[in-house]
Amino acid sequence: MTDLFSVEGKVIVVTGGLGQLGTEFASSLLSAGAKVAIYSRRPIDVAAIDEKFPQHGGRLKVYVASVTDKEALEAATDALCAEWGVPHALVNNAGIDSKPNGAADQNGPFESYPQKYWDEIIDVNLTGVMLCSQVVGARMAEAGRGSIINVGSIYGMVSPNQALYAYREKRDGVPFIKAVSYAASKSGLLNLTRYVATYWAPKNVRCNLISFGGVKTGSFDKEFVDAFLERVPLGRQAEKGEYNGVIRFLASDASTYMTGSNVVVDGGFTAW
Ligand SMILES: NC(=O)c1ccc[n+]([C@@H]2O[C@H](COP(=O)([O-])OP(=O)(O)OC[C@H]3O[C@@H](n4cnc5c(N)ncnc54)[C@H](O)[C@@H]3O)[C@@H](O)[C@H]2O)c1
Repeated sequence: MTDLFSVEGKVIVVTGGLGQLGTEFASSLLSAGAKVAIYSRRPIDVAAIDEKFPQHGGRLKVYVASVTDKEALEAATDALCAEWGVPHALVNNAGIDSKPNGAADQNGPFESYPQKYWDEIIDVNLTGVMLCSQVVGARMAEAGRGSIINVGSIYGMVSPNQALYAYREKRDGVPFIKAVSYAASKSGLLNLTRYVATYWAPKNVRCNLISFGGVKTGSFDKEFVDAFLERVPLGRQAEKGEYNGVIRFLASDASTYMTGSNVVVDGGFTAW
């Protein structure tokens, strides 16, 4: 019986594929028989690859290319196409956010939020997705097929609720404001997705967004998690593997009639 959700033999680029979720996506796609190309800011040696992805069986390549560096993206994609052919799917996963324990001005009032943090986050999360889509998507369009999967967030659909962070001021005596740039960058993906989807529809290149909720990592403060979970109808954060299914769905032939959509996977957070 043909598996509608098969990604076996498909060549799939995962940007930021050595990070928390990227590793999950790459591992799950490898386990399903795909060939995975990770575009990474940093190199990784062979022994570390074998340890991180024991199932790779020679079906994994790591290219050093920042998503903000178009030349490096072109070079990586040329090399990939020469070795494995034009990718079938691109997972625009690389992303950054302001660090909760970073410099105070990263998490300070909007009125004085420094532009340098805005620029850094918009560069990676929005411009980076545009550049990867340009470079890899152009090859897909020439080949007459492809699926671009953008990794978004609930904070691209709704604003972060500052009340969730109020415990920090009580605890530390300093106001903590969840910054604007992550939310703005991820909301930009909503319409970048629709643009790319409609632009390349005649070339059979699809583009969809996935808006994720929070993932359980153990690195969040208990006060934050408790307040967050009160707003999640399913009452829990996602396990780190719970987004793999939707990635595989969008990379497979099960989603061939889907383009320009926003797939929300958030335990119901945005339903309330
Ligand atoms: N973790 C969550 O709760 C959550 C929730 C919603 C959405 N997301 C989104 O999921 C994606 C992955 O997040 P994560 O939690 O795995 O974060 P992470 O920090 O563990 O991984 C992000 C990866 O992107 C890479 N990266 C950053 N800048 C890059 C650049 N310029 N070029 C190439 N790679 C770069 C990092 O090196 C890292 O490997 C992000 O887009 C994030 O916004 C995460």
